[in-house]
Amino acid sequence: MSSASKLVTNIGELSTQDLAADTPVLRDAAVVFEGERISWIGPARQAPAADEVVDAGGRAGLPGWVDSHTHLVFAGDRSAEFDARMAGQAYEAGGIAVTTEATRAASDYDLTRLLLARAAEAAAGGTTYLETKTGYGLSVEEERRHARIASTVADTVTFLGAHLVPDGADADEYTDLVCTDMLAAVRPYVQWADVFCEQGAFTTDQSRRVLQAAREAGLGLRVHGNQLGPGAGVQLAVEFGAASVDHVNHLSDDDVATLADSWSGWDDAGAGAGAPGAGTVATCLPACDLSTRAPLAPARRLLDAGVQVALASNCNPGTSYTSSMNFCVATAVLQMGLTVQEAVRAATYGGALALRVHAGEDRDGARAVGSLAVGHRADLQLLNAPSVAHLAYRPGMPLTGPVFRAGELVR
Ligand code: NIG
Repeated sequence: MSSASKLVTNIGELSTQDLAADTPVLRDAAVVFEGERISWIGPARQAPAADEVVDAGGRAGLPGWVDSHTHLVFAGDRSAEFDARMAGQAYEAGGIAVTTEATRAASDYDLTRLLLARAAEAAAGGTTYLETKTGYGLSVEEERRHARIASTVADTVTFLGAHLVPDGADADEYTDLVCTDMLAAVRPYVQWADVFCEQGAFTTDQSRRVLQAAREAGLGLRVHGNQLGPGAGVQLAVEFGAASVDHVNHLSDDDVATLADSWSGWDDAGAGAGAPGAGTVATCLPACDLSTRAPLAPARRLLDAGVQVALASNCNPGTSYTSSMNFCVATAVLQMGLTVQEAVRAATYGGALALRVHAGEDRDGARAVGSLAVGHRADLQLLNAPSVAHLAYRPGMPLTGPVFRAGELVR
């Protein structure tokens, strides 16, 4: 990794997502990287000299996407299930078993190759910080194997042994296994634990046991909640201080109020990663909502209530086979009532907040991501467009230009 300085100048519009800055959106801007960190941001005409100069050609710049919810460790294809769904069949969690069978049958080599290809697709779309999950192993050995493989590629890994009760298993016995041997087996490879708290997956009581055990193991918590219908996912996530509850399609007024309460007293402009007051992020997954023809998550209502919102791709073979954050941002603007800056914020800073890597250093000493500020990791994407509004103004167009991750050009 180079420690030389790099000046990226002639950025037509720079959306920093740094709410502590006097001007979060700058015109005719420049950014300087020192090694993997940002050392300066400001008007291009005032930029300091650097070892290397990159001319952005008037392109818009913004933080790399932080994709905080994906399921990329899998083999097999479920396009027939998708076809059937588009012909009217409802989505059911049972499809997870189909992928589990195919994934268990795949070698380490094949699983790693598939994961690398998917991570490369995400990077090509501007994603510079990637979370992924286990959850298609559903046995001690397979979950450990998937966690190990995931940890070689993703920035952070979530244990989702509580994704589905395997065929023929007793739900309570399987939950016990998740909370004991399986958790111990994956622990060296993961930073987070998740549970699919939903009818047809794990009950409130089983979900509570998983979250309790994961907390005792020192993992950060996240919850798949309120995806297929109303349920206890949101309330449980807030009760356990989970960093995020994901899907959130079916919310009561009480759910929204509970999420909003979890953020009361939060100082948006400068609180550190470990600062008190960080609540539970509501992570909306627009590509999944479209691909399952579910009601779109109420992102506008959540923001209006004071909830911190993230947008993520949920790339997986069942409900959302895309890692395009550009698509998620465009959908959030065009279909969910967010402004362009709100959607960009949710796909950058929001994702970082949902992974608690938004400020300071995370527990592994990595620098903050999801916003452009001095000291943060130098994750910058340039668009082949003069403003970030083009992400929604020209949906579906190939707008991703040069991408820098930790100061290095990766695309
Ligand atoms: O986030 N909701 C649970 N898990 C995935 C879907 C997994 C699958 O169908 O394979 C999701 O949508």
